[in-house]
Amino acid sequence: MMNFSKLKDKYKAGKMKKRINWNGPLPAHIAIMMDGNGRWATRQGLPRTAGHLAGMNAMRETIRFCHKTHIRYLTLYAFSTENWKRPKEEVDYIIRLVHAFVTDRTLNELNRNNIKVNFIGDISRFDLDTRQIMQHAADVTRFNTGMTVNFAVNYGGRSEIVQAVKSLVAEGNSSFSMEEFESRLYTSGCPSPELIIRTSGEKRLSGFLLWQSAQAGPWYTDEMWPSFNEYLYYQALHAYQCRKVRTIS
Ligand code: IPE
Ligand code: IPE
Ligand code: MG
Repeated sequence: MMNFSKLKDKYKAGKMKKRINWNGPLPAHIAIMMDGNGRWATRQGLPRTAGHLAGMNAMRETIRFCHKTHIRYLTLYAFSTENWKRPKEEVDYIIRLVHAFVTDRTLNELNRNNIKVNFIGDISRFDLDTRQIMQHAADVTRFNTGMTVNFAVNYGGRSEIVQAVKSLVAEGNSSFSMEEFESRLYTSGCPSPELIIRTSGEKRLSGFLLWQSAQAGPWYTDEMWPSFNEYLYYQALHAYQCRKVRTIS
């Protein structure tokens, strides 16, 4: 049975949904910095790891919201190159969550919904088991033609740019075009994100999609990531549409 606050959220989401012009512009690519898991947990007297677990559930739900609203590309910042500096137990827990996410059940749901999965970032830093799990998820969803979900893991925008340049230079190409450069980014083939969401009230880029975000509009909410819900999702879409209308006219 649904509790009262869940019912209230559903009601608010329904009202917000009606404010969106579903024939109007929607972002082809949404990128999300899922921040605030630790604070969400600490505030309730729980260990930070409980926040990461709740955050994974919010992430699952968010993939459904995006799918339902026909978003073509979704990029989720799950683990940054800086996050290795956290206590080993926390890092290990987050990696275990990746294992827990990539189950047959999840992959079946993704395939049923025609969703393709990619892991973007410097994957080589992860242990073999984890790399294989990431590869497996990409392999079994490879032929899906609906939404693409990019999980950014061990991702940093600066390292992404440096590795792109290095790969071109290694081929003797030092007068590359913008298109050639972009083809070496982890997001090659995806349009640039038009809406970037960050939860938890922090207004920083934290190295996320530095090159790709040149024309993107940020949207911030004070809510912590595990509290992200359909109401906030529609609020972000609505803000995107209002901004778009202003810039077109
Ligand atoms: C975001 O939540 C998740 C990851 C970085 C993996 P945080 O863990 O950064 O939570 P806060 O910001 O400390 O509350
Ligand atoms: C950004 O959050 C990265 C992710 C959401 C995975 P952080 O919590 O790691 O960022 P900083 O350290 O506050 O900038
Ligand atoms: Mg944080």
